[in-house]
Amino acid sequence: MNQSNYDEQNRVKASFYATYAALTPHQYLHNMTAVDYRMADYMNPFLTAVVDISVSRFQQHPVRILDLGCSYGVSGALLKTGCSYQELAKFFLHETSLEYSSCVTESKRWLESHVARENVEVVGFDSSTEAVRFATASRMIDKGITRNLEENESELTEDERSLIRQCDVLLSTGVIGYVTAKTVSPILDAFGHDARGPLGAVAIMSVLELFDPEPIAASFAEHGYRFGQLPIRIPQRRFADTEERERVLEALRDRGEPTAVQDPEDQMFARLCVAARPQSFEVLSKRMNEVAEALPAEVRLGHQEPTTFSESGRVRPRPLRGVSKTFPLNRPPSPR
Ligand SMILES: C[S@@+](CC[C@H](N)C(=O)[O-])C[C@H]1O[C@@H](n2cnc3c(N)ncnc32)[C@H](O)[C@@H]1O
Repeated sequence: MNQSNYDEQNRVKASFYATYAALTPHQYLHNMTAVDYRMADYMNPFLTAVVDISVSRFQQHPVRILDLGCSYGVSGALLKTGCSYQELAKFFLHETSLEYSSCVTESKRWLESHVARENVEVVGFDSSTEAVRFATASRMIDKGITRNLEENESELTEDERSLIRQCDVLLSTGVIGYVTAKTVSPILDAFGHDARGPLGAVAIMSVLELFDPEPIAASFAEHGYRFGQLPIRIPQRRFADTEERERVLEALRDRGEPTAVQDPEDQMFARLCVAARPQSFEVLSKRMNEVAEALPAEVRLGHQEPTTFSESGRVRPRPLRGVSKTFPLNRPPSPR
């Protein structure tokens, strides 16, 4: 099934939209900790490894990350400080003011005293004006783009394209579903044109099991990337309530996803997806599988029957080391 828009799936999920639009991150972090949001912590070792392999000996500038759906900039802050989500949430919820300017000042000071990694810059991209405003002012991110490309007639400005062109790594955690290929495609038109790292431009994304990654995979393929869904299953958060749990499990059943593993679980899971130029794909996916080895066993799916998606969406078996589903290049790359 090709879910080119995810409206149906979004209806079964609890909505957190209001928490993405507050002036400061308090409400967002309060709501996320209430449902035990774990994705950002789980993604950080993968992101750190991607940044490490993207550093070039010849590169003058830091590794640049485009954080799609950055919200208040938490992923970038975890990467730069090495702190956990809980530590960050504790700082905001217990040590910062609810008042915007004071919170910005306190956050800036905290970040300055915790930064452990200097060789990265984060360009945050989000539809929430408030979240991007806070993230930029407090330096949780280095630069920000506020835009909603899901809206008809919305498009990137030349300045935004130029920022995206300079990014080496595309990160997205917990955002596919809110965004579709309608957002991903114009971003990929610009993304990574100036990337200079050894692997070239790469992407790392968590995609909730509720959402079919196929339309996103097709968009990457159109832009000359190889896209893969790795056998890595990451806990995202607890279900908000029993109704959400039942609706999500029913949606997974309707999609024909095996529910045997999900039925007894109390959490939503996402799969780790990566994309790279064909010549870099194996190196990237191998490194991600190595990172998974060091994480709790619950994130590893073990050996799965490898599957390839064809352009028409049909599934056919294709052996590939450590990769459960790959989305091949079946259209010519767009001109660079
Ligand atoms: C679940 S939060 C994830 C935040 C962050 N990536 C993390 O893992 O902590 C989803 C984010 O997607 C953003 N979002 C929703 N719709 C969007 C759109 N059309 N374009 C860009 N961002 C969007 C929301 O504003 C929110 O910040």
